[in-house]
Amino acid sequence: MTETDLFEPIAVGRYRFTNRMVMAAMTRNRSPNEIPGDLNVEYYGQRATAGLIVAESTAISEQGLGWRDSPGIYNAAQIAGWRRVTDAIHRNGGHTFLQLWHCGRCTHPDWRSDKSAPVAPSPIRSIGGMTMAGRWEQHAEPRMLELEELPGIVAQYRQATANALAAGFDGVEVHSGNGYLIDQFLQDASNQRTDQYGGSIENRCRLLWEVLDAVVGIAGADRVGIHISPTNVHHGISDSDPEKLFAVVSEGLDGYGLAYLNVVEGATDPTEKEIPFDWERLRRRYRGIYIANNNYDRVRALAARRHNRADMISFGRLYIANPDLVERFRRDGPLNELKVPSIIAEGANGYTDYPALSLL
Ligand SMILES: Cc1cc2nc3c(=O)[nH]c(=O)nc-3n(C[C@H](O)[C@H](O)[C@H](O)COP(=O)(O)O)c2cc1C
Repeated sequence: MTETDLFEPIAVGRYRFTNRMVMAAMTRNRSPNEIPGDLNVEYYGQRATAGLIVAESTAISEQGLGWRDSPGIYNAAQIAGWRRVTDAIHRNGGHTFLQLWHCGRCTHPDWRSDKSAPVAPSPIRSIGGMTMAGRWEQHAEPRMLELEELPGIVAQYRQATANALAAGFDGVEVHSGNGYLIDQFLQDASNQRTDQYGGSIENRCRLLWEVLDAVVGIAGADRVGIHISPTNVHHGISDSDPEKLFAVVSEGLDGYGLAYLNVVEGATDPTEKEIPFDWERLRRRYRGIYIANNNYDRVRALAARRHNRADMISFGRLYIANPDLVERFRRDGPLNELKVPSIIAEGANGYTDYPALSLL
């Protein structure tokens, strides 16, 4: 039964995806030594019926890695590991873009192999933190990136894009949201620079445009997506005027002709305050493919397509527990229950052992 075109193919960039459902990027910490392995091959291969899999936040460099056991794309072993993941997805008929991640200030020296301090636009500490090895720690105070270091950051994105393509990814998604490095430059609570990368909105967008120019230069715009989260106050990120900032951002993005714009609509943590934002206006303003994310279920997704609120819908937590989410939605079938303790953990439990409908 097809109520709308949610289950129909769609042309995105240089590809034709088999349906309009996206598996959202999700960190699962299942890549020991930051190298994708057998478990990751199985996990992503199981979810390849999604029209697009955005593979989890992946560090573009040792400097960009926030914590251990999250994958990278900066050495040969990581590229080889990811190659096995992309092969599994392609064998099962799917497409996948890699989310390129630089954590910026969201880390702690104790979790980095060289014990270096986090880097950020300004020396302002994130209010977030994380649990590693059973211990919770607030992100440490970052040091301010010097002007001369910024071309090196852009070069990290350029190299990571080349590495992702070498690993067989169909494209890359630039992570410009959730309070990580590029978002830290965009939003004024974390950017108090007085040089050409701070102050005005144009200046705060400068790193984003430089990164996009570099990434597009390697992959071509039709293999590049972008991820933004205008009001996700994750990690203490915020802006004094998000509507104005993201009007400029979306207008600038429009000019690139990217494969897609992926938008986290609101706060992902239900305990965080909701900041008013006109998502429909953002969708109307951006002329390319618009992917909507945050708290979508089957009913909301079908309605979003019916009213053309988005071109594709991205699902996070539902994809953790339901490897065959497309089939379940198509049949309006039952959903597996999410096992919360194993979301960020080790091993197959709660990772690759969620059954498909046919196995129930
Ligand atoms: C375990 C977990 C890990 C996540 N990791 C990432 C990530 O690596 N990159 C990212 O952009 N968002 C990440 N997110 C946010 C999701 O992509 C998504 O925006 C959020 O879960 C809201 O979508 P949902 O309501 O469909 O789950 C993560 C979410 C969860 C639950």
